[in-house]
Amino acid sequence: MCGIFGIVTREEQLLGPILIEAGHRLSYRGYDTVGAATIPQNGKIDLRKDVGKVQEVADRLNFAEMRGDRAILQLRWATFGAPSYTNAQPHLDSDGDMVGAHNGNIVNNVELRQQFMAEGMVVRSENDGESCVHAVERYVHRGDDMLTAIRKAYHDLEGDYAFVIGRLGEDRLYAIKQGSGLVAGVADGMTCIASDLPSILPLTRQIVRLNDGEIIVFWAEGYEIYHAESGERIEREPEFVEESMEVAQKGGYDHFMLKEIHEQPQVARDLLHLMESDPEMDALIERLRSARNLYIVACGTSYHAGLLGSVYFSRLAGRVSIPVIAPQFIAHYAPACGPEDVGIFVSQSGETKDVLNAIQSAEARGMGVLGVVNVVGSTLMRESEYHVPLACGYEISVPATKTFMNQAVAFLYLALRLGGHDTAFLENLPRWIEETIAAVEAQIPTVEGKIAPWDDLYCLGYGLTYPIALEGALKLKEITYAHCEGMLSTEFKHGPLSAVVDGYPVIFVAGPEDVPLIISGVNEVTCRGGRAIAIGEEDPRLRANADDLIVIPTVDAPESMRPYVDAILSVLPLQLLSYRIGLARGYDPDFPRNLSKTLTVD
Ligand code: G6P
Repeated sequence: MCGIFGIVTREEQLLGPILIEAGHRLSYRGYDTVGAATIPQNGKIDLRKDVGKVQEVADRLNFAEMRGDRAILQLRWATFGAPSYTNAQPHLDSDGDMVGAHNGNIVNNVELRQQFMAEGMVVRSENDGESCVHAVERYVHRGDDMLTAIRKAYHDLEGDYAFVIGRLGEDRLYAIKQGSGLVAGVADGMTCIASDLPSILPLTRQIVRLNDGEIIVFWAEGYEIYHAESGERIEREPEFVEESMEVAQKGGYDHFMLKEIHEQPQVARDLLHLMESDPEMDALIERLRSARNLYIVACGTSYHAGLLGSVYFSRLAGRVSIPVIAPQFIAHYAPACGPEDVGIFVSQSGETKDVLNAIQSAEARGMGVLGVVNVVGSTLMRESEYHVPLACGYEISVPATKTFMNQAVAFLYLALRLGGHDTAFLENLPRWIEETIAAVEAQIPTVEGKIAPWDDLYCLGYGLTYPIALEGALKLKEITYAHCEGMLSTEFKHGPLSAVVDGYPVIFVAGPEDVPLIISGVNEVTCRGGRAIAIGEEDPRLRANADDLIVIPTVDAPESMRPYVDAILSVLPLQLLSYRIGLARGYDPDFPRNLSKTLTVD
């Protein structure tokens, strides 16, 4: 996830060390390029940027010697445009008298770049941060002052972002918040802004929080806040924050996993905006439609999302696809594949060796390679004809949560488009995710204690919830260290039933259309003394038959679409349950023993 930092000081001074420190403090968000600019009142903007880690780039380009009284720093996590010098931020305007940087996504970037070029501006990169600069430049060159130009640019820029910009010949910087994080810090003779608190805390603990749709104009001795829409001035005093650096990095949550669970509504919103505005979407859909055989290839959590995607494709688009764990693709299907076939390779990191091996075998057979990937610039992205960027930002916690969410959302969107369905109802999905997290968080404490003591359990689902049960079981295994097997609910009676003893926990993920079938399974467990914990919508049949029911809200989706949405929502209680049980058993959910976020070995 990109990070921005901007600072104005009373006197010209060595700003390099402050910028490097800010870079280090933003780096936990994840990034692939680093850039810094100082903006003198007169003279030339000093812009230095490149691909690499903060210290590497700072050493190579000698950030330490950068002087001035205004500066901007940006760490970029690639979404629009591969990680490269040109796409690195900050960006200059056409004639080099303004410089700016953003974090977030400008979803109408492609259209805007065409407009800017047609208007004669110098567009140097594919990056949407550059579009923010030109969006302001457009109005400054028509005679507006900076504040007015930014207010007008706000109407042209679609998406979720925070953005900072400065201009030669002035003593101030400007920043705007719309959907992405932005906070300001004030001290005697210094004002700064950043995407989040960690880069500000070493400089000051006097903080001004900004809301969406607000612009902050700041100089060494003060700041003014304006409504972007109305232009009205807003009075807001700084507040003193006591948060430690570690707590600040975790956004106030105890663990990155919990923070990332709570980021899911926002990342889903970002992804849906991106997919809606992706100029290559029609071509991608056509590629899925015209393939002879379609494979979905992945490992771990990404495989579970792919399996869900495969159910979506069949049911929503009548398109058969074969979900397969990557190494098995090589042994089982690749020998029979050819140029008419297409593989969708799904990977958060885009670097999982098992997946890359499968891509190699697909390419050797001349197959089409599509990617669903979070890390832009990764090998998977580079090998893909088309790719869907998951736009989750950096996922720090080893157990994948928000990337699973967006993989599932991406597949739902693709399946709807492939089947010719209206996708408009998906605009409510982020709200449904948010409501479900809130509703479920309140219920977990009543259930967790009944599962936490067990070293062995099952998590069962059927149809749309089968992949969710597999994912829930993986989450439980990863962070509680208990053995939890995920299985099709109807298979449980074919053997595993023998494990059931008094109190033995079996979790059932019940989609709204499968309740009668799930209830049979529930009774097979309860009549043998086992404990059946159901996850599903409020339903008297589940209430009457299961020992516990974790209720997910019945959302206002179109009736025919509710089961598809429900499947996605039902992973949320399993993520939260795993998190809570892991803690109850005394383990660190962010860094479980023996596991690695990215497995680059066979
Ligand atoms: C590792 C991680 C899992 C992840 C899997 C696939 O095993 O621990 O959480 O699901 O790799 O990773 P990918 O980056 O390809 O999605």
